Amino acid sequence: MVGVVRIAVVLTVLAAACHGAPPGLGDPEPRADGAIAADAGPGDDGAVRDGMPGTDPDAGPGADAGPDRDAGPDRDAGIDAGIDPPLDAPPPPQTDDLVTTGLCVDNACTAIQPGAIAFEPRWHLWSDGATKRRWIKLPAGAVIDTANMDYWQFPVGTKLWKEFTRNGTRVETRYLVRTGPRPGDWLFMGYEWNAAQSHAVARPNGKQNVNGTPHDIPSQTTCLGCHANNTTPVLGFGAFQLDYRASAGFLDLDGAIAAGWLSQPPPGAASPHLPLPGNATDQAALGYCHANCGHCHNSDSQLTNRPMLRIEGANVDTMARTRLYQSTVNVVARTSPFDGASILAKPGDPDDSVMIKRTTTTDVPRRMPALGIETVDPAGQAILRAWIAALP
Ligand code: HEC
Ligand code: HEC
Repeated sequence: MVGVVRIAVVLTVLAAACHGAPPGLGDPEPRADGAIAADAGPGDDGAVRDGMPGTDPDAGPGADAGPDRDAGPDRDAGIDAGIDPPLDAPPPPQTDDLVTTGLCVDNACTAIQPGAIAFEPRWHLWSDGATKRRWIKLPAGAVIDTANMDYWQFPVGTKLWKEFTRNGTRVETRYLVRTGPRPGDWLFMGYEWNAAQSHAVARPNGKQNVNGTPHDIPSQTTCLGCHANNTTPVLGFGAFQLDYRASAGFLDLDGAIAAGWLSQPPPGAASPHLPLPGNATDQAALGYCHANCGHCHNSDSQLTNRPMLRIEGANVDTMARTRLYQSTVNVVARTSPFDGASILAKPGDPDDSVMIKRTTTTDVPRRMPALGIETVDPAGQAILRAWIAALP
């Protein structure tokens, strides 16, 4: 189905998403350039998967939205829809089968390629109970630019994968690769595992309820809703998420330093290099919010920065100076009252706190996190409630 994904078009979408709310998050206006249709849904993002315009049999309504879907800053990137490359040009990357991305030794992924290194973030993103495995592969000899410890910049050619297993069945493997030097030069793809577990193929438009489970594969456009709100799209492989002793076989911050992967290693001889303030309850809340909310709620986000729920290094010497504390504790919500509550985190009273109301409401369009879940995270609720209950 998707023979070739036109990188230039993906770039246009990423650039567009960086300049405003991603689809489905309060930006119902179709973009003038048609690069992103107003909302995710089957066929909505034909714009990012290509073929000749209008000739793709899989393209649903909206695939050709807009007068010039290739308009945008990257239209001159060389690879463009409908233009045949010169005969001697290198072929565009094949991304229709997972095995072509370099993660697995075979279609069934019975083993991982040497060079793809497993890692495990310290705090978990709740994904409706799915279990996940992750890997990263850097080009030989390349280093990650860690001058900004909060937002690492990855070398061209960096690849990352995340595999989802639901009810004991592999359902999806996600792939992220840096394709060029510009900030938006990243390609996103979800691969669907077949029922026989023998093969995974690209699903650029996403897919609902894979393999008889409730798991949904996000469309490429939906990936951006979480991955394009920072100066780096890599969300789990970062300083705070790796600053702990990972289990054997998983790369952590000490391992990345020892491997020479970081241009500027953080201070200190061993983890914690970037110690968190507060007690265990505070730290659990910082971690839960960083992992589950920080990809949208951060100081870099054009989408929404308040409350600011990502751990950002300069502000972590005392709990009261963290962005989490300063932007929630005794702070009146912008959308207020919400289900009768007005304060984001009201000390001693989780039930009257907007943070709890917004993460448990049955009003799904207003429930947080705004993407990626169908069920409320029980462990996350326990962490958030304990933190608010203990606030003086
Ligand atoms: C609901 C928000 C959300 C959506 C939608 C989403 N991701 Fe992610 N993704 C995250 C977060 C947060 C992490 C880091 C935590 C983790 O790995 O569990 C992550 C991690 C990853 C990783 C591991 C590398 C990293 O950034 O740490 C890959 C690869 C990835 N995502 C690819 C994709 C692709 C491809 C899509 C679309 C098909 C997608 N993601 C959609 C939030 C999301
Ligand atoms: C995919 C992006 C995304 C994620 C992830 C996300 N949010 Fe939000 N959040 C938004 C957007 C967009 C708004 C503004 C629109 C609205 O109020 O619904 C918002 C608004 C809010 C508000 C209302 C703020 C106010 O002042 O009224 C709260 C509280 C909130 N989010 C908490 C959270 C929490 C807690 C998490 C993690 C468990 C989270 N959000 C994860 C996108 C996100």
